[in-house]
Amino acid sequence: MPARGATDDERDPNVNDRRFARALVTGASSGIGAAIAAELAARGTDLVLVARNEEKLQTLATELSAEHGIAVEVLPTDLTETGALRAVEERLRGTEAPVDLLVNNAGVGQVGRFEELDIDVAETQIALNVLAPLRLTHAALPNLRQAGGGVLNVSSIGANQPVPRMATYAATKAMLTSWTEALHEEMRGTPVHITVLAPGFTRTGFVGAAEAEGAAGHIPSFIWSDAAAVARAGVDGVTARRAVVTPGPIYRLSGAVSSATPSNVTRRVIGTVMRFTGD
Ligand SMILES: NC(=O)c1ccc[n+]([C@@H]2O[C@H](COP(=O)([O-])OP(=O)(O)OC[C@H]3O[C@@H](n4cnc5c(N)ncnc54)[C@H](OP(=O)(O)O)[C@@H]3O)[C@@H](O)[C@H]2O)c1
Repeated sequence: MPARGATDDERDPNVNDRRFARALVTGASSGIGAAIAAELAARGTDLVLVARNEEKLQTLATELSAEHGIAVEVLPTDLTETGALRAVEERLRGTEAPVDLLVNNAGVGQVGRFEELDIDVAETQIALNVLAPLRLTHAALPNLRQAGGGVLNVSSIGANQPVPRMATYAATKAMLTSWTEALHEEMRGTPVHITVLAPGFTRTGFVGAAEAEGAAGHIPSFIWSDAAAVARAGVDGVTARRAVVTPGPIYRLSGAVSSATPSNVTRRVIGTVMRFTGD
């Protein structure tokens, strides 16, 4: 279900900015997730870092606790494995050192024509990009409801329209954006802040992988965002209880154009652009 034209909203003047005490950040071992962890650490928020690569998580934990004097826990986890995901859910339900901000950032993007892609990898992509945020948010909500807190879901501008050659990825992000916006409304009037962050092209390992497959090599340099700026926009957004945050004027403009353009036009234009990335 494409969340066409998800647009940034004004901040709600009736909502006070919130300082978070402890955040659990998924996909914290690199890229936007590591940048979000650093941004939160600089604001004095304790952290629980989640990803598969334990060594990278430990290195980041040591750096951030030394630099900012915060407490950092490390939970090495493959979020596509049911048992491991349940353990993170349990951490979010815990009342000792409770988490008051969940950042669902871990995500992968498979590039190529769907018929040629490994279907098991496509399924794993859905598990990581959609099912993990769904289950983790459900586990976090009782504590957030009771004591107040937030959820920041990292989606993509790819959510705004179908993306040929990244069809399943864009569909996972369309669900994440639509679902987060709906939850944002369900939580109106409660102490729970729910925000979707929709970055455009951002220099990280994610794009490194896509570049290696030819998907990003044709993009001009001014289009690229910096992970630290994206992270700052996301943390500011959930602090101020915005529903949708799209970092960068270029991407806010492209979102507006995309929502005003018939879908048969946008999908053909993007299909043509993406054709340069493959065969
Ligand atoms: N970069 C962009 O241009 C861009 C644009 C729009 C949206 N986004 C979104 O931003 C988010 C972060 O992407 P990024 O660009 O920062 O990519 P990245 O540098 O590749 O980081 C992805 C993170 O996800 C973790 N991860 C991957 N598979 C996992 C698994 N099975 N279980 C647990 N963690 C897993 C990785 O850590 P381990 O390998 O250690 O597990 C890593 O920390 C994603 O949701 C992506 O869709 C990125």
